[in-house]
Amino acid sequence: MSVRRLAPAEVQPKEFAFNAENLEWAKKQLLKFPEGRQASAIIPLLWRAQEQHDGWLTEAAIRYVADMLGMEYIRALEVATFYTQFLLQPVGKKAHIQVCGTTPCRLRGADALFDICHHRISHEPFEVSADGNFSWEEVECLGACVNAPMAMIWKDTYEDLTAETFEKLIDGFAAGKPPKPGPQVDRQFSAPQGGPTTLTDNSIYEAASKAMAGSTDTALLDSKAKKPTQSASDRESPVVQNPKR
Ligand code: FES
Repeated sequence: MSVRRLAPAEVQPKEFAFNAENLEWAKKQLLKFPEGRQASAIIPLLWRAQEQHDGWLTEAAIRYVADMLGMEYIRALEVATFYTQFLLQPVGKKAHIQVCGTTPCRLRGADALFDICHHRISHEPFEVSADGNFSWEEVECLGACVNAPMAMIWKDTYEDLTAETFEKLIDGFAAGKPPKPGPQVDRQFSAPQGGPTTLTDNSIYEAASKAMAGSTDTALLDSKAKKPTQSASDRESPVVQNPKR
């Protein structure tokens, strides 16, 4: 785990405030939590502050969000410095590329992606490219190992990358036309490439539907379902009572 510190004072802007649209959005987030629990909104608010300020989180923004949530600054700083989704120093304006360097991605070709970062962006992570548009870093597993290798840019993941598709990805962000997030090969989510390979025989679903239709133990009909004000036990079979003497 790397040491995460705020950017040096010389690059920190003095102030931060949400713009009108984000302020309205932030106020709505606060309503989602019970009175006194507004601190629970810290992650989405910090994220929105980061999006508003060129993709990185300034100290002024962290203090602003803490004030809004009635939190001690140190508590907000703890959150901001713990989660690697918060970028604490200036990054590329068009894209900050987080390339996964954990074993499955390495085994599936992440080294080629890092080589491209070195050549096209900068040799060092977090060093912004000469045109100010790109930066990169190596991150730990981002949970898309089944589609390795992958990279995350802002809130989207780009998966099943090759050197060629990674170059295209950077070109897309440079031109302001990023490709569709997700797998960059012919597959749906994490399904096999080219389409499903198991449970492809539709007859098994038809047989199951017929069995359900003919069963007396069918799903509950709407007409027999319990009504909103009934207690849960109302639908159960009545308890057999002993005959009265
Ligand atoms: S190892 Fe790269 S996403 Fe998990």
